[in-house]
Amino acid sequence: MGSAKSVGPLIFLLATLLYITNSYPDLDFSHIGCEECTLKKSKVFSRDQPIFQCQGCCFSRAYPTPLRVKKFMMNPKNITSEAACCTASSSHEVKVKNFVVRNHTGCYCGTCIYHKI
Ligand SMILES: *[C@@H]1O[C@H](CO)[C@@H](O)[C@H](O)[C@H]1NC(C)=O
Ligand SMILES: *[C@@H]1O[C@H](CO)[C@@H](O)[C@H](O)[C@H]1NC(C)=O
Repeated sequence: MGSAKSVGPLIFLLATLLYITNSYPDLDFSHIGCEECTLKKSKVFSRDQPIFQCQGCCFSRAYPTPLRVKKFMMNPKNITSEAACCTASSSHEVKVKNFVVRNHTGCYCGTCIYHKI
């Protein structure tokens, strides 16, 4: 009985490891709960008039840098990450009470701002 109990978690661990290994080349967590990148009415800012904001996500993944590619990198990185973020392609400033917020009018999957820095 004692040994049967300890085998369970071990099998679970092995299964998890196999699962991770199998799915490694296209490691992709972005589509879990990932909604399409679209304009959505903001619940927070919409008062008298609707305010739209881009919401949703595009795509992101990270994978080990292929050796061939690494040779050509200025700063070789072991992990390459790629991402596209749902950002506003056009917007205009509107005032809601005392806040200035951006009313988005178009969205696209573009470079993530934090990647540009
Ligand atoms: C925001 O833009 C939408 C159209 O894209 C417009 O209908 C709405 O009235 C605008 N909201 C404000 C507060 O200007
Ligand atoms: C990248 O991998 C190399 C060898 O594979 C290792 O020497 C180096 O420390 C790693 N760099 C980082 C930032 O993990």
